[in-house]
Amino acid sequence: TWTMVNIVEEQVARIRDQIGDRRAICGLSGGVDSAVAAALVQRAIGDRLTCVFVDHGLLRKGEAEQVERDFVAATGVSLHVVDAQKRFLDALSGVSDPEAKRKIIGREFIRVFEAAEAEIVGDAAAHGEKVQFLVQGTLYPDVVESGGGAGTSNIKSHHNVGGLPEDLEFELVEPLRTLFKDEVRLVGEQLGLPAEIVWRHPFPGPGLGIRIIGEVTHDRLEILREADAIAREELTRAGLDRDIWQFPVVLLADVRSVGVQGDGRTYGHPVVLRPVTSEDAMTADWARLPYDVLETISTRITNEVREVNRVTVDITSKPPGTIEWE
Ligand code: XMP
Repeated sequence: TWTMVNIVEEQVARIRDQIGDRRAICGLSGGVDSAVAAALVQRAIGDRLTCVFVDHGLLRKGEAEQVERDFVAATGVSLHVVDAQKRFLDALSGVSDPEAKRKIIGREFIRVFEAAEAEIVGDAAAHGEKVQFLVQGTLYPDVVESGGGAGTSNIKSHHNVGGLPEDLEFELVEPLRTLFKDEVRLVGEQLGLPAEIVWRHPFPGPGLGIRIIGEVTHDRLEILREADAIAREELTRAGLDRDIWQFPVVLLADVRSVGVQGDGRTYGHPVVLRPVTSEDAMTADWARLPYDVLETISTRITNEVREVNRVTVDITSKPPGTIEWE
């Protein structure tokens, strides 16, 4: 539409004004906000933007490829991928407490991201160039919530890893500061980004790490990824994915349930389907998914994911339940 064309052109011009011929860096999470922000900055300054994608191994099936392959193909962005899957799994080993998991994932993420940042800054410096800007997908509601006025904020990145350059200071570039989520999606479509990214449901930073109730292990992640992929695929096939706010699938990894599959008794794990409707995640209602969609999801998960022998649906609103189980 005309409006979206205007927003894109206006933002691209602003970004060019702000960054000039200097360099910028942007972290990609797999979500729509960082993707659209990065795509706009790429339009404005091309290869002087470097994106960083930390693969922590806690994304859902196909999401790393959506960033590494499809997003790069759609935008031509220059991408620096850090495969940190082992590092995150090692750090999470033996940890079951939800807040402990969150802290570990957050801490490791910052360390890995800052190391990548330092490497990119160092490479640029070797060519006599300076990386001076950090792109963030801040939306209008985030700006209002944090009481932030207009203008340029500086953020400091503290390195607590030995052997890195001294603290880096960046100026922020926030091309989505005036937009709401639905507008960001339209801008994303206008920029030709993959539909899976543009229409992705909100997804927590700690990812599947907080959807495995119990310790996070490689095998448990594989089980949850398969079950989650089936649920999302069937929701999309039913044409309902844009009516649902989020659809967590939760693996009760420390619970075992008896079942009968094929010609024998099994002792597997239950999964919980948690489809919700919401406006802003502050409150939510459990989604009344059609029985035939639930039936297909249940049948497929128990047929295709050997370790799961029971599928349940969470019918709790928020409050009293939260959207996530941890
Ligand atoms: P709850 O479970 O509190 O979640 O109803 C509300 C919204 O926040 C998301 N969520 C998180 N997002 N880091 C995030 O970035 C987190 O640790 C986290 N925990 C919950 C959740 O997916 C929902 O959209």
